[in-house]
Amino acid sequence: MHGDLRTNGGAAAAPSGVKARFDHVTKRFGSGDGAVQALEPISLDIAENAFVCLVGPSGCGKSTLLNILAGFETPTSGQALMDGVPVRGPDPRRGVVFQQGALFTWMNVRDNVAFGPLATGKSSSEAQRIAMHYLEMVGLTAFAKRYPYELSGGMQQRVGIARALANDPEILLMDEPFAALDAQTRELLQEEIKRIWQSTRKTVLWITHSIEEALFLATDIVVMSARPGRIKARLAPQFALSEDPAVVASVEFMRMKAEIFALLREESLAAQRQEVER
Ligand SMILES: Nc1ncnc2c1ncn2[C@@H]1O[C@H](COP(=O)(O)OP(=O)(O)OP(=O)(O)O)[C@@H](O)[C@H]1O
Ligand SMILES: [Mg+2]
Repeated sequence: MHGDLRTNGGAAAAPSGVKARFDHVTKRFGSGDGAVQALEPISLDIAENAFVCLVGPSGCGKSTLLNILAGFETPTSGQALMDGVPVRGPDPRRGVVFQQGALFTWMNVRDNVAFGPLATGKSSSEAQRIAMHYLEMVGLTAFAKRYPYELSGGMQQRVGIARALANDPEILLMDEPFAALDAQTRELLQEEIKRIWQSTRKTVLWITHSIEEALFLATDIVVMSARPGRIKARLAPQFALSEDPAVVASVEFMRMKAEIFALLREESLAAQRQEVER
């Protein structure tokens, strides 16, 4: 149960090491009476090529954990490591996508995606080529010259994902990237993300409130407890390598969905009690 998180070992799975590690990470915000213990010691290995989904009740510290690996927050104790090296701050090797696109409103779609490659010293023509490659991957070549305000929310998120991929990060950190989207768009983008992950096998840490989304995409699901966040359970679903969208109707999918639902319900009730006791 406390072993490393591993990929499922399907045909496409390379022999994998540990890409990122949380080593006894804790986080406390503020001090004195107003202090909030967001994370209890968390130790978690993210295997190379794994797609790890974090689920847990609101306020349990998921974003805090992701932000510590991104380098946006420092842990109170313990450390996050990438390739064995402690994280000291943001780094283009870690690509981050948030719930709502942080696109540059004054740049067209192609220039938004080309920004990272340009910033890391690529020539203008090479950066544009890279941008078009990733826009094609997310199905937006026809919108390269448009501006963010001309796009739907789902299209903006796809640009955000293309922009993160264009930096060729070694790990993608995604904090509820589809939360603001309608159900149909969300399902289509889940299929798109699965296809992209299957072809690139980028290591991913993905936060979601959707159990179905986690089951559909993840090689590893980490269920967190109510605040202060701890790891309550880990599951290794077998659906990430499947190309059949109908897996969601399989008996095993339903069984795991019920299992995670029950785990989360316990924690959500605990979180609610915490609120009442405050
Ligand atoms: N910058 C901050 N200053 C003070 N408290 C914070 C800060 N960031 C987060 N917290 C607190 O830490 C706890 C964990 O927050 P976090 O945003 O990590 O939760 P979450 O699991 O991502 O929740 P959600 O599912 O609602 O996004 C919460 O109680 C929150 O109020
Ligand atoms: Mg959050």
